[in-house]
Amino acid sequence: MKFLVSLTAGLLSVGLAYASPAPLAKRAVSTDGSCGGSKGFTCQGSSFGNCCSQYGWCGSSTDHCGIGCNSAFGQCTSSSATSKPATTSKVLSTRAASPPTPTPTKNVSNDGTCGGSNGGSTCSGTSFGNCCSASGWCGSTAAYCGSGCQVGFGNCGSNTGAGSSSTSKTSPATPSVTPSGSALQCLNGKNVPYKMTSDSEYAGLVEPYNLRLPYKPAVVVLPITNQHVQDAVVCAAQAGLKVQAKSGGHSYASFSSGGRDGAMQINLQSLQTIQLDQGSGVATVGGGVRLGNLADGIFTQGNAAVSHGTCPGVGIGGHYTHGGYGHTSRNWGLAMDQVVAADVVLANGTLTKASSTQSPDIFWAIRGAAESFGIVTTFYVQTRAAPSSITYFEFTFSGIFNSKSVFTNTFLHIQDVAKNASVVDNRISFGIYLDGSGFSLSGAFFGTVDEFNSGVKPELLRTLPSAETTVQSMGWYDYLVKVSGESTIKTPVTGYDLHEDFFAKSVTVPESAGLTSKALGDLFDYLKTAGSVQYYIIINLYGGPGSAINSKDTNFAAYVDRDSLWVLQNYGYGGDSIDFINGINSAIINAQPQTSFGAYLNYVDPSYDAATAHKLYYGDVVYSRLAALKQQVDPQSVFWNPQAIGA
Ligand SMILES: Cc1cc2nc3c(=O)[nH]c(=O)nc-3n(C[C@H](O)[C@H](O)[C@H](O)COP(=O)(O)OP(=O)(O)OC[C@H]3O[C@@H](n4cnc5c(N)ncnc54)[C@H](O)[C@@H]3O)c2cc1C
Ligand SMILES: *[C@@H]1O[C@H](CO)[C@@H](O)[C@H](O)[C@H]1NC(C)=O
Ligand SMILES: *[C@@H]1O[C@H](CO)[C@@H](O)[C@H](O)[C@H]1NC(C)=O
Ligand SMILES: *[C@@H]1O[C@H](CO)[C@@H](O)[C@H](O)[C@H]1NC(C)=O
Repeated sequence: MKFLVSLTAGLLSVGLAYASPAPLAKRAVSTDGSCGGSKGFTCQGSSFGNCCSQYGWCGSSTDHCGIGCNSAFGQCTSSSATSKPATTSKVLSTRAASPPTPTPTKNVSNDGTCGGSNGGSTCSGTSFGNCCSASGWCGSTAAYCGSGCQVGFGNCGSNTGAGSSSTSKTSPATPSVTPSGSALQCLNGKNVPYKMTSDSEYAGLVEPYNLRLPYKPAVVVLPITNQHVQDAVVCAAQAGLKVQAKSGGHSYASFSSGGRDGAMQINLQSLQTIQLDQGSGVATVGGGVRLGNLADGIFTQGNAAVSHGTCPGVGIGGHYTHGGYGHTSRNWGLAMDQVVAADVVLANGTLTKASSTQSPDIFWAIRGAAESFGIVTTFYVQTRAAPSSITYFEFTFSGIFNSKSVFTNTFLHIQDVAKNASVVDNRISFGIYLDGSGFSLSGAFFGTVDEFNSGVKPELLRTLPSAETTVQSMGWYDYLVKVSGESTIKTPVTGYDLHEDFFAKSVTVPESAGLTSKALGDLFDYLKTAGSVQYYIIINLYGGPGSAINSKDTNFAAYVDRDSLWVLQNYGYGGDSIDFINGINSAIINAQPQTSFGAYLNYVDPSYDAATAHKLYYGDVVYSRLAALKQQVDPQSVFWNPQAIGA
C-alpha cells in the first residue's frame, strides 16, 4: 500500500531529520509532546517543558535539556531544566553521569507502554511520565514510580509527586501493592462494585464479541451510578491503570477490553435507562443500552425511531460515538448526528454535560473519539416519529462472479445509479453483499412500493444480470426485526452471549473518485485467490444525491468521513483470514493510487499502528485538534487503547 509506505517513512524520520531547521520563533509549538523531526514542532512554550530531547520529545528534565538536547527545537539553556533530586537511586546517578548515547539502545515509548513485555520501550523523556510501572505503563505518579517500577525502562523516582498518595510520598521505597491491587483498594474504599480476575463472573464479563482478541482486564468495574464511574476513573488514574468503557462490547479490536491486557474495564451494563420525552422527542439513554433495546424502547414509548445500525446487540456507547450507519442514515444522518448532548466522566473524575453550548470541545471530541476523552454515562438523542411503513427491497443476482466484465459492469452500473439524481435522493439507501459467489443488493426506501417499482427499480436493474427480487412494504418495527437477522430485537441486559472469531477492516471511497473499472477488475481477480478463506464484503452507500451523512463537516463533530460514496467492510473468519483480507484493501488501493481512501471508525482495525490509524481515521487536521484537546483534558492518557488519541 503506497500511502502506508510513505507514512511509515515519515514516522521513522521523527526525531532523526533535523535538516535546515527554520528559525525558532517561526516553529509551531508542540501540542503532542513531540518535537523536531518531520513535524518540526518546538518545545519552547509547550506545556511539556521547553527542551527537545535527542529522541524528539519535549520535557524539562536533564534527560531533555542535557547532553543530546536538540537546541533547534527548544531552549536547552532555559532555567526550567530541573536537575535530578539529590536522593536518587544508583540507577539514576549512573544515568546522570553517563547520559544516553546518541544511538538509543531502547526505543522511547510513543504510546505510553513500556518495559519488557511491551517491546522494551523506555519512558524516559516521554510526555506520559518518566517511570515505567510494574504493568508496563509510563507515568509519573507513585503508582508508576513506586513499588514495582521497572528501573531498566525509565527513571524510577525521578518524578514522583503529582497524584501520589501521602503514604507513598513519605516512604516511596516501601513496597506497597501492584497497580491493580492499589486500584482494588481504592475501589473498595469508595464502595464501587467490581469483579476481579479471580471472581467466577469475570470470564463471562470480559468475553468480547470478537473471540479472536480476548484481552484480560486487570479489573472489571460494574458501576450502578455516575458516581461509581467517576470514582473508578479516579482510582484508575491514581493506580496507573488505563481505562476503557464497555457498552455493547462489539469493538472489532476488543478495545472495550483495553486493547491489551491489564486495563480497567468499566462495564456499563447497569446503565440501561431509556426514557422518551414525548414533547421534544429527545430520548435519555444509558451508556450501556444496546441498539435493539433502544429501538424497542422508544417505539414502545411513543412510536419514535432513530438512526442506527442493524445488529441489535451493538452498544450505543461505541456505535453512537464513532459514526453509526443504517438504512436510515442517508435520510436522517448517522447515529452520531442525532446525539444532542451527553453526560461525560472526564479523566479527573468530573462529570460534565457536553452539548453544542456546554463544553462544546468535549462534545465535538466524543463524537469521533469518545474512548480517548471520557465515559459517556448518558446520551441525549433526538428521535423522530417512526414512519408508518417503509419499503424493504432485496435483489439477489446470479452469475456475477462468472466473468470479470460482468462483475465490473454490474458494479459500475450500480455506481452510476447511486449518483443519478433522477433515481436516488435522501429517501433511499442500500448496501451490496458479496462473498465470491453470491452477490446481492438490499436496502430501504422511505416511500411506497409503487413509487419504488416505478421510480427506482427499473433503472437499478437495467442492463444487469437476472435477479430474484423482493420489494415489500413493512411496518417500522417489523422492518427492524427483519434486518436484525434475529427473531427479536430485544437483547438480554446481562449475559449477552453472541460472538464471532474474525478480522475485519474498511475502505472509505471518496465520492469524487468512486471505484474505477481497474480497481473492480483487480478486486475480481484477487477474490478468485481466496481458496478456503471464508469472507464477505459489504459495500454500503453513504453518498450520492441528498445524503444527510455528507451534509455535515468536521466542525460538527470529530468525524471526517463526510464525503464518501461507498464504505466497504471486508470481513474474514478466523485469524487465518488476515492476510487475505488485508489483500482486499491492497487490491483496491493499489489500483487507484491517486485516490485518498480512508477507514471507518466503527470498523476499527487492530492491525494499524497508532500513527496509521490516526491518519486513516481522522486525517492530520482533525487529529491535531484532538491531540491538543487530549493534552488538556487527559494529559496522563487515562483513557487509552492502542489507537487512542495520543497513543
Ligand atoms: C455484529 C455486528 C454488527 C454491526 N453492525 C453495524 C452496522 O450496521 N452499522 C455500523 O455502523 N456499525 C456496525 N457494527 C460496528 C459497530 O458499530 C462498532 O463495533 C461499535 O463501535 C460497537 O459499539 P459497542 O458499544 O458495542 O462496542 P464496545 O466494544 O463496547 O466499545 C467500542 C469502543 O467505544 C468505547 N466506548 C464504548 N462505550 C463508551 C462510552 N459510553 N463512553 C465512551 N467510550 C465508549 C469503548 O471503550 C471502545 O473503545 C457492527 C458490529 C458488529 C460486531
Ligand atoms: C525499536 O523500534 C523499531 C521499529 O519499531 C524496532 O524494529 C526495533 O526492534 C526497536 N528496538 C528495540 C530495542 O526494541
Ligand atoms: C439516470 O436515470 C434515468 C432514469 O431515471 C436514466 O434515463 C438516465 O439515463 C440516468 N442517467 C445516467 C447518467 O445514467
Ligand atoms: C477536570 O477537567 C476538566 C477538563 O479539563 C476541567 O474543566 C475541570 O476544571 C477539572 N476539574 C477539576 C476538579 O480539576
